[in-house]
Amino acid sequence: MSSKHIVIIPGDGIGTEITAEALRVSQAAAEKCRVAFTYENKQAGGAAIDACGVPLPEDTIEACRQADGVLLGAVGGPKWDQVAPELRAEKAILGLRKSLGLYANLRPVKVFSALAGQSPLKPEIVKTVDILIVRELNGGIYYGTRREAAVVNGIEQACDNEMYSRPEIERIVRLACQAAAGRKGRVVSVDKANVLATSRLWRKVANEVAADFSQVEISHMYVDNCAMQLVLNPGSFDVIVTGNLFGDILSDEAAVLSGSIGLLPSASLGDGTGLYEPIHGSAPDIAGKGLANPLGTILSAAMMFRYSLGSNQVADMIEDAVEQVLADGYRTADIYQPGFTRVTTEEMGQQVIARLK
Ligand code: NAD
Ligand code: IPM
Ligand code: MN
Repeated sequence: MSSKHIVIIPGDGIGTEITAEALRVSQAAAEKCRVAFTYENKQAGGAAIDACGVPLPEDTIEACRQADGVLLGAVGGPKWDQVAPELRAEKAILGLRKSLGLYANLRPVKVFSALAGQSPLKPEIVKTVDILIVRELNGGIYYGTRREAAVVNGIEQACDNEMYSRPEIERIVRLACQAAAGRKGRVVSVDKANVLATSRLWRKVANEVAADFSQVEISHMYVDNCAMQLVLNPGSFDVIVTGNLFGDILSDEAAVLSGSIGLLPSASLGDGTGLYEPIHGSAPDIAGKGLANPLGTILSAAMMFRYSLGSNQVADMIEDAVEQVLADGYRTADIYQPGFTRVTTEEMGQQVIARLK
């Protein structure tokens, strides 16, 4: 296989620590499987604002376009919260997703058996959880017209607009149905069709698309009910498909099922290079202290090998090692409980590498 090339964007906060471990694990696993890849680091987010005044430099976008895959840590933090809205660190992620045409964000939520007792929910509620959240990533209120706060007729007001078009809904629901066909065949489409026009279009189009998949059963749920069902009966879900904002919120909620947001990976797929990142943010509260859980980023790297670098073998090897490291009792601070072995971010990376086989 020809050598693949990846771009690594550490970003801000814990981004540097977690991507360093994901890179080390990736290199060790690839070497074991005799898979070659090269990498380069690029800047985005607050780090790029500090270095060159913009959150997403042109050369970062270009390098990502040329690469086979992009691994990103996280961006943002209090240091850059006061900059102009168009220069916010988070704009880097939104810009990358748009520039690369990444409309589908896959966020798998599973519970490692070693961590079934870790969730604040009862083990019998979480132990059967295996959910794939398919979040629309290139549209909705994230990319609608926006009017920053201004005083109109003496009253300060701001505005964000939500728009979804038929093609945008069709492609994401189709992808969710395809994914479900290879799983348990159940799609729950989540919307707010009792209030929002975009949701009513979403529901209609979702039904039409799902009709093409005889092996897939689609049902609909309002987002407020879904938020409740995710903690009440999470084992009932297979694939959830939803819009940009609802998907963002529901996936952080679903992370609680697994035991920590630090465990959840994601893949953003679409027209261009795939982007892989943990679902969490830059966690400024724990940055630089060796407290961050790198497993979500390591599992994102595994997804990158599977979906963008053409190596299921490396992906499986990394995922098996993560499962084993947890079974062997290693825990970063976020999932630590007495009786287990507490490790730093870096030690967790080393323990994963020790279990690659
Ligand atoms: P966050 O996800 O960074 O942190 C929420 C909580 O989870 C914090 O208590 C944090 O310590 C903890 N946490 C997150 N990742 C962890 C890990 N790997 N290991 C252990 N604990 C972890 O969310 P936030 O505090 O709302 O946001 C912080 C910054 O990150 C903001 O600037 C936000 O805009 C940005 N953000 C970026 C991304 C991204 O780059 N994809 C995603 C979400 C938030
Ligand atoms: C995520 C983050 C981003 C989002 C922010 C940082 C723009 O919360 O990746 O989940 O809302 O999509
Ligand atoms: Mn989020």
